[in-house]
Amino acid sequence: MSRLSNWLDGRFPYSRMYRDFAAHPVPPHARNPIYCLGGLTFLTFGIQVITGVFLAFYYQPTPERAYGSIEFIMTQVRFGAFVRSVHHYAANLMVILVVLHMLRVFYTGSFKKPRELNWVAGSFLLLITLAFGFTGYLLPWDQVAYWASTVGTEIMRGTPLVGKLLMVLTRGGLKVTEHTLGRFFALHILVLPLVALIFLAAHFIMVRVQGIADEL
Ligand code: HEM
Ligand code: HEM
Repeated sequence: MSRLSNWLDGRFPYSRMYRDFAAHPVPPHARNPIYCLGGLTFLTFGIQVITGVFLAFYYQPTPERAYGSIEFIMTQVRFGAFVRSVHHYAANLMVILVVLHMLRVFYTGSFKKPRELNWVAGSFLLLITLAFGFTGYLLPWDQVAYWASTVGTEIMRGTPLVGKLLMVLTRGGLKVTEHTLGRFFALHILVLPLVALIFLAAHFIMVRVQGIADEL
């Protein structure tokens, strides 16, 4: 085993990469559990990616099939109900954790120079998390999902000047239809994960380069 890992390390220097990026002592003030909230948010995101991929194996994003495919996941697929429940509860937990993490950063004043840009990156991550929740909510295509998305996209119409355009773009037309379902599905499993990964990478690189903010 060690011969194999040495061989690999000689060609892909993962132990040096790990040392450079992760093997640093945590400053004493950051051992307070409130400093775990960012990491816990990331953990829930990881859970969402894994359970989400399993759901996507069975979920079918068309009005005729969406509800039935969820029913199939809940009643026929082995561990289907479990995986879907984990995806549902972890989504709620992620929103709670990201807000608590933001409050921790605010409370400890960690957004101040030179971390202003990381606060901005974090703000985008907050919006992305909420967008995940909003787009995911339509996917079961039941009454609650349909009307929640109708009301949610109607609110966009209130935006000054570009309101109607925004609503039509999001719905893929004037009403919530199969085009809305297709759009929300593509956003949920393709666009948002990619954008999230880019912002997460920027967020973590900044945390690593700047180090954790000093005590207040
Ligand atoms: C790569 C990442 C992800 C994939 C592939 C994915 C995939 C899916 C799929 C296929 C569904 C439809 C099945 C169902 O409704 O149970 C779904 C639903 C949902 N997703 Fe995701 N998801 C991902 C990440 C996320 C994240 C990060 C969040 C939340 C912050 C989230 C929140 C939701 C919600 C709230 C639902 C509706 C659940 C329900 O009540 O049934 N998802 N997702
Ligand atoms: C998906 C969402 C997010 C994830 C996974 C995440 C993850 C993390 C992690 C792991 C850290 C290291 C320190 C810690 O855990 O407390 C951190 C630091 C930080 N985060 Fe986030 N974060 C997210 C959202 C946010 C939001 C919404 C904001 C603010 C609007 C924010 C602002 C910051 C700042 C300024 C730091 C540096 C704090 C310091 O040096 O003490 N993050 N983030």
